Amino acid sequence: METELIAILGLQWGDEGKGKVINALKNEYEIGVRFQGGANAGHTVYKGEDKIILHQIPSAILCTEKEALITCGCVLDLEALINEIEELKKRNINPEGRLFIDERTPLVFDFHKEEDVLENEKKGKIGTTGKGIGPAYRDLIDRKQIKIGEFKNKDFAYRKFKNLWNWASEVIGSRFGRPVKPLDEVFEKHFSLFEKIKDFLTDGIIFLKEKEKQGKRILFEGAQGALLDILLGTYPYVTSSHTITGGILLSTGVPPWRIRRIIGVMKCYTTRVGEGPFPTEEKSEIGEILREKGQEFGATTGRPRRCGWLDLPLLKYAIRITGTTELVITKLDVLSGFKKVKVCTEYELEGRKIEFPPALSDELYRVKPVYKEFEGFEPDEKDKNLRKFLDFIEKETGTKITYISASKGEEIKKVS
Ligand code: IMP
Ligand code: MG
Repeated sequence: METELIAILGLQWGDEGKGKVINALKNEYEIGVRFQGGANAGHTVYKGEDKIILHQIPSAILCTEKEALITCGCVLDLEALINEIEELKKRNINPEGRLFIDERTPLVFDFHKEEDVLENEKKGKIGTTGKGIGPAYRDLIDRKQIKIGEFKNKDFAYRKFKNLWNWASEVIGSRFGRPVKPLDEVFEKHFSLFEKIKDFLTDGIIFLKEKEKQGKRILFEGAQGALLDILLGTYPYVTSSHTITGGILLSTGVPPWRIRRIIGVMKCYTTRVGEGPFPTEEKSEIGEILREKGQEFGATTGRPRRCGWLDLPLLKYAIRITGTTELVITKLDVLSGFKKVKVCTEYELEGRKIEFPPALSDELYRVKPVYKEFEGFEPDEKDKNLRKFLDFIEKETGTKITYISASKGEEIKKVS
């Protein structure tokens, strides 16, 4: 019998609570896979009172009987990875023998982070996390990157690294008038980091093929969210990876028809970190209340998140581009206390009503949200007003809500 392959993806601009859902559904898979992004992600998971933030390692690692794979769709920051491993070990969670990294995975070097930070100051417009994500993926597309497995041959890696370092020092030198750290220093640093984690390397494509054959259930853990996808997100205010289901196919070799359960995670309101269009943003007191009650501060950078009401045009779009088959709605407790709760049902653009977002960010900046008001509710499934709110979302999106979450803790509730 074929095993079930599951994807858990964010349907907004990240921070939907994917980490929590992945943890709550822990009986439904044996292997967790990260297929895109890097240390820009921050998956917050609570184990009792203990708050753990994972950046690059799949959350599956927290269950000591599970295995975790980082695929080549990611860009790997070795220094950050080693810190994360140390954090886990402090909690008696040992990743050895359970963590695997595809040898094809490209790396994030110090100069990628440097360039990311400098570029962001210069243009000041994307508001990136400063983790080197954009430059690392650019160098991959430009065919200059180094695959982590290439470090197995030090001389070969050095020659390739030299080429990349030359390029980086020209870019940073000419654009920002700054020197980068010396070639040999940076190379040796990354080589010794590599030596610490080389036992985790594997061929990710064969790994997954074998596990599938053994009947293991596999979960693909999305990072960021559909609206941050490099191709279909709110470009250029996006991250540089493929955050949607297509991203899984690109970096795992898993046949498309094998992924039949695609769980889309959404908050019952909307947040965004960094710049870019956000039609339902509340810059007033309401935004402030959502931020405080929802503790909406970046897990990676600590930046305050922009907050606003739920946006159905964007949600419908995200469901479409991810192929979401079921919805999980999180943070319902944050809306309790509001007398009225608003949901954007469509937009007005140049006098026309539209129910799908326009293709271009420039236009998304100009839409006016049209709202429907709901009576306030308690985060309790028996609350009639909550039921109305949930029923409306199901009807509008044509997608079933299978779980809701209404607290910071570990649990999520199955919706009957
Ligand atoms: P980058 O991924 O650091 O290049 O940042 C690009 C955009 O994606 C910025 O708006 C970031 O705030 C946003 N972003 C990146 N990672 C996350 C995340 O894990 N959660 C929320 N937003 C993110
Ligand atoms: Mg996050």
